[in-house]
Amino acid sequence: MTTLGTPLSPSATRVMLLGSGELGKEVLIALQRLGVETIAVDRYENAPGQQVAHHARTIVMSDPAQLQALIEAEKPQLVVPEIEAIATPMLQQLEDAGTVRVIPTARAARLTMDREGIRRLAAETLGVPTSPYKFCDSLAELQAAIDGGIGYPCIVKPVMSSSGKGQSKIDGPADVRKAWDYAMAGGRVSHGRVIVEGFIDFDYEITLLTVRAKEAGGAVSTRFCEPIGHVQVSGDYVESWQPHPMAPAALQKAQQIAEAVTADLGGQGLFGVELFVKGDQVWFSEVSPRPHDTGMVTMATQWQNEFELHARAILGLPVDTTLKSPGASAVIYGGVDAQGIAFDGVAEALQVPGVDLRLFGKPESFVKRRMGVALAHAADVETARANAKEAASRVKPRQA
Ligand SMILES: Nc1ncnc2c1ncn2[C@@H]1O[C@H](COP(=O)(O)OP(=O)(O)OP(=O)(O)O)[C@@H](O)[C@H]1O
Ligand SMILES: [Mg+2]
Repeated sequence: MTTLGTPLSPSATRVMLLGSGELGKEVLIALQRLGVETIAVDRYENAPGQQVAHHARTIVMSDPAQLQALIEAEKPQLVVPEIEAIATPMLQQLEDAGTVRVIPTARAARLTMDREGIRRLAAETLGVPTSPYKFCDSLAELQAAIDGGIGYPCIVKPVMSSSGKGQSKIDGPADVRKAWDYAMAGGRVSHGRVIVEGFIDFDYEITLLTVRAKEAGGAVSTRFCEPIGHVQVSGDYVESWQPHPMAPAALQKAQQIAEAVTADLGGQGLFGVELFVKGDQVWFSEVSPRPHDTGMVTMATQWQNEFELHARAILGLPVDTTLKSPGASAVIYGGVDAQGIAFDGVAEALQVPGVDLRLFGKPESFVKRRMGVALAHAADVETARANAKEAASRVKPRQA
């Protein structure tokens, strides 16, 4: 039996989010609805999730001493990473000591923190199909890896990066140095290591949201949401929709891969499994052991969106992954570099049929920072995509 307490009382169920961006904000709202006491942590003040939590804390989450001190002071029952750049060995240490439970597990947070841990686990330990790849620590090693079998075209990514930062495609020998320099400038930590991957000429790519949650008997089982299709521009998601139609054989392979990877990572919670598909062939790309940005569409398409699924799964509650309606999401970028911006056109956006909006409340806007998302449900995915894009385009961020 799962027992939940009353927030701000001695019986409280306390959950700490490490990272409180737009995805963390929605997880926090889902937890709040179940009467969970929430602690929202980020590296800057007034992060989106900090605006909806009981407590807001601002620390450098990649600093093990700061992370340890905060967890020991706040004593949450659960720690829920929302971002990758966290001192995961410290989380492992605190989990091993029984101080806290990390979602889904400290090991999953550590392995998915950089591209190497998860890629080696999937391809070399689990034998899951992936693009051909090599890890390189210098321009010379990169060139040797390409010449030694990866070939052209290929993609270079810093091992520590997300949202496409530092990532570029190499079409021929003339691009190699440029890709290396770009990766060195775009990595999260000054850390000269990259992965070079053979380019997969896929028909489409999906996110398969996969939930490990307790069933009535107490055993953890795996459930899948309908596949989410998406478009990435320079490695960053701009549009997603659900369901994405798939041939039965490809769907079955996708689910098998997702099951294998998430079962090995273990624990309870929702995972975003990124897969490339060509005909009946499926390749594993990467996995987030937490809600996925392309999965924001589920706020318009599922009875329980990905954030509610995550909240329920981590608390040991049952989940329902069924689709409510086809739908789509379209990203609203800041378009300006400014603090405290204003959004014109919100009413006009909401006049588009079946549309809803999320404005994240980020204190500072950048031209390419994701500041909001338009959501649409419709009778079919095509209509939903068109309506979500139309609504997103009607929202006009500007300097206040
Ligand atoms: N080997 C590949 N072959 C073809 N396309 C690729 C390959 N690797 C990445 N891509 C494209 O680039 C996108 C971003 O790659 P990836 O997911 O590895 O980067 P990321 O920085 O982790 O992005 P995000 O954080 O947004 O998920 C993929 O969704 C896909 O569209
Ligand atoms: Mg990705």
